[in-house]
Amino acid sequence: MSRIGINTNMKNVLVTSGSQQAIDLSGRLFINGGDTIICESPTYLAAINTFKTYNAKFVEVDMDDEGMIMEELEKKLIENPNTKFIYTIPDFQNPTGRTLKLERRKRMVELANQYNVLIVEDNPYGAIRFSGNELPPVKHFDTEGRVIYISTFSKMLTPGLRLGWICADEVFIEKYVAFKQTADLHTDSFAQRMTAKYLELYDIEEHINKIKAVYKERCKVMLSCLEEFFPKRLSYSKPEGGLFIWVELPEDVSAEHIFTEGLKNNVACVPGTPFFPNRATKNALRLNYSNMAKEKIIEGIKLLGEVYYTVN
Ligand SMILES: Cc1ncc(COP(=O)(O)O)c(C=O)c1O
Repeated sequence: MSRIGINTNMKNVLVTSGSQQAIDLSGRLFINGGDTIICESPTYLAAINTFKTYNAKFVEVDMDDEGMIMEELEKKLIENPNTKFIYTIPDFQNPTGRTLKLERRKRMVELANQYNVLIVEDNPYGAIRFSGNELPPVKHFDTEGRVIYISTFSKMLTPGLRLGWICADEVFIEKYVAFKQTADLHTDSFAQRMTAKYLELYDIEEHINKIKAVYKERCKVMLSCLEEFFPKRLSYSKPEGGLFIWVELPEDVSAEHIFTEGLKNNVACVPGTPFFPNRATKNALRLNYSNMAKEKIIEGIKLLGEVYYTVN
């Protein structure tokens, strides 16, 4: 945590069963039925589904290539005085791959202070930056203990161990502990010991550098395939890290159709619709570049491009 600019100690940290549990516990702890959660539009599907189970109302804030737009955020904070927290994924966001620029990180904290709301910063991908300059997390700018920072070993080591953590003010951590005890008593100690041993015996930075090099290359290949196999007027994100590219199709093109036809040929992508808690957006797609070898990426995007042209 100190390496990324968060000064903290043991009392501010709770190890969780993946960051998904941290998201769930945040919902349990903070949301009363009908509370508003402000989020990026679009945002992480499993956070939407989790917060929905606590009967949250979602307010979406538009993004551009530099993340959530702060003027829009302020407007939404004024319109929704019962906002409990802002849920944000500032680095290589799921699903868009976009990153919140530096000044906006500072501004988000200022607005949270001004309008008396919390920020839940979900940062599973921050360590996987393969180009551009590293940015401090939103929590780095936290002056009033309003930012709950969540991260995980899932994307930098392995998802199967189910190890994540929350870093927050001690008063919040005490409450999180009480809720966690009702959920699963504690996080798997064997997984924690294995990870601790791994960190002791191996250089995790070296491992992260290896995966970053692989993802960087795969991302580059996928972007050049989009350029080659899709029409020029298509808009898509150009991530500096993480796992995803977000493709915005022309308004009359259904991503669902591309998904269904792609799947018939063993090419999977994710239609964008469920990433919007309220908006009915049908023309966006999330692509993942981290998983497949270069040759498969070329084959897959070529096929999706062919499907695109058959429906247009
Ligand atoms: C934005 C975001 N948050 C949280 C998670 C959950 O990760 P885990 O529970 O494996 O730590 C994911 C997984 O894809 C994610 O994309």
